[in-house]
Amino acid sequence: MARKKIIAGNWKMNMTPSQAVKLVEELAPLVKNDDVDVVYCVPAIDIVPVVEAVKGSNVQVGAENMYFEESGAYTGEISAAMLVDAGVKYVIIGHSERRDYFKEDDALLNKKVKKAIEAGLVPILCCGESLEQREMGVTMDWIRFQIKSDLVGVSADQVKDIVIAYEPIWAIGTGKTATTEQAEEVCKGIRECIAEMYDQATADAVRIQYGGSVNAGNAAELFAQPNIDGGLVGGASLKADFGKIVCY
Ligand code: 13P
Repeated sequence: MARKKIIAGNWKMNMTPSQAVKLVEELAPLVKNDDVDVVYCVPAIDIVPVVEAVKGSNVQVGAENMYFEESGAYTGEISAAMLVDAGVKYVIIGHSERRDYFKEDDALLNKKVKKAIEAGLVPILCCGESLEQREMGVTMDWIRFQIKSDLVGVSADQVKDIVIAYEPIWAIGTGKTATTEQAEEVCKGIRECIAEMYDQATADAVRIQYGGSVNAGNAAELFAQPNIDGGLVGGASLKADFGKIVCY
């Protein structure tokens, strides 16, 4: 069965609640494409108004992060149950900005992935190499390490429904997109890794996005690759361009 494309915006730390609602309203007529799953991953404080603003549309809402504990004394954190109750369907886990600036390691991310799944959220698990790693020729070794560590204890049935986002760090926010060949090569490698860890049917079911300077001009070519099932879009998701990407 063909995999349905999934195109998600990652707003990062942009948009106040009132700006968020305005953006959602502006994008509403532009992002109508029933052939793809459309997701806005928004800052925690924007979740409630954005869930309200997308009601009745084809857009679903994601969070950019969550904590793995059920509840308790974790000042500043947000639980999976809170996200579910607010109407969130997806959660980005392990974005390179969280790994880098907030020192999130793979052991922590593994706990987050498992908690998200248990709560009924779909994790968008991010992986990707630095420029140094690419130049050293260890890209696929590194990504396999991330995928294997982040999915410890996750069953084949659970993995089928998650989303993996390949985001080369050197392509994020730099305007420097990976070439279509580079993006396809790694997404294919991720699928092979899943096939080795689980089985071919699981690997064929999992959706793998590319992220890193996706824009209205390069989306169609990237999404036409056999192993690229959509995109995780940063900067361009905050503009009308996101409509062009969704309707690529
Ligand atoms: P840009 O699209 O701004 O490069 O960001 C990519 C990204 O980090 C999405 O998660």
